[in-house]
Amino acid sequence: MHFKSQRKSYKRRRDKQHRTSEYSQFMNTPKAFASSLSLTNENMMMCFLFVTTLLVSTVLWFRYIHKYFKNKCTCAVSLLGKVVIITGANSGIGYHAALQMAARGGRVILACRNEAKGLAARDRIISTTGNSNVVYKHLDLSSLDSVRRFANDVITTEDRLDVLINNAGMYGSSGKYTEDGILEGFQVNHFGHFLLTLLLLELLMKSRPSRIINVSSILHYYGSIRTDDINKIVRNDLFTYINSKLCNVLFSVEFARRFRGSGVVCNALHPGMIDTEISAQANFFVKWVFKASCWVCYRTLGEGVQTVVHLAVSKECENISGKFYMDCIPRYLLPNARNPLVASSLWDLSEELVGYKTHTKSGFKDY
Ligand SMILES: NC(=O)c1ccc[n+]([C@@H]2O[C@H](COP(=O)([O-])OP(=O)(O)OC[C@H]3O[C@@H](n4cnc5c(N)ncnc54)[C@H](OP(=O)(O)O)[C@@H]3O)[C@@H](O)[C@H]2O)c1
Repeated sequence: MHFKSQRKSYKRRRDKQHRTSEYSQFMNTPKAFASSLSLTNENMMMCFLFVTTLLVSTVLWFRYIHKYFKNKCTCAVSLLGKVVIITGANSGIGYHAALQMAARGGRVILACRNEAKGLAARDRIISTTGNSNVVYKHLDLSSLDSVRRFANDVITTEDRLDVLINNAGMYGSSGKYTEDGILEGFQVNHFGHFLLTLLLLELLMKSRPSRIINVSSILHYYGSIRTDDINKIVRNDLFTYINSKLCNVLFSVEFARRFRGSGVVCNALHPGMIDTEISAQANFFVKWVFKASCWVCYRTLGEGVQTVVHLAVSKECENISGKFYMDCIPRYLLPNARNPLVASSLWDLSEELVGYKTHTKSGFKDY
């Protein structure tokens, strides 16, 4: 009996070994593999053609056809008598947003860290639009002191603020901490703007209805935030960038909750993939992927800035708050960007890190 069962198990093992060696030999050649899937030469050719056509039409769609379906801000609102602040307005999306705001007659404040670039941008905007009410003011978001000085300057010199566009951004701080003890990528992209917004809130309240616009990115979809380690653990630049862009959306969501009905609205947006200086500090691989994506999803800066303009001027956005826009349309917020607990604890952490406490946790009554 025992002998019989031993023979059976030996036979089973031998068969299995045989099958495995046959299988691996068989799978070693692509032709054999194809025939295992019962793909004939003709079918393989069809598959190849199908995949190539799919790839080519995706590229054609995004690069050449998609642009005819992109939404534009068609609103012809004038900004005469209104004041607009744009951070990082000397280049890229910020510069083009400033150009559009100035063309609509607004007083435009270019908040930039580099004086020479800021003044050059101011001169170009004045000569292009003919609007001389464009000024440069120094703002370096990687220093909270600079943010406070800028805000004080604005509060003492301006008697209103209608639109605040938090646009400046950076990629690639390589884990550097600022003089304020905050990871640079997070400070420039989120914490600096957070403090700036709170310091200017009184002026925004005074000028209601007013708007705050946070230039985020579609990449925030991949973000995930843990407020207990966000400023403690240094991860890679891509992680910092993606999560700082998620902070922009969470900030908008939480602002909308805390200041619901106040007359100050706050929204975030993705401008589209545009080949700007934002990837200058990125490593070769990230830069290559970014440039390739920009080539495929080609859009000009004039097109990319449409959602910023829409949120800044259109009548329909006057009462909308806490949303994420793309191509002038509010988009679905993923759970990572609308979790009220995360949004609220990020707000608390931001207050702690920038050393500024808002008057109220649940409303705007103190203003
Ligand atoms: N381009 C895209 O495909 C894309 C996609 C999604 C989101 N975005 C977002 O769009 C925004 C604008 O980026 P962009 O593409 O226009 O890039 P950009 O041309 O590099 O513009 C970034 C601006 O931010 C300024 N800036 C950087 N660090 C600063 C600091 N510490 N203090 C003050 N200003 C600072 C830069 O000033 P300097 O010239 O002095 O460096 C520059 O004016 C960013 O928030 C970015 O995350 C861009």
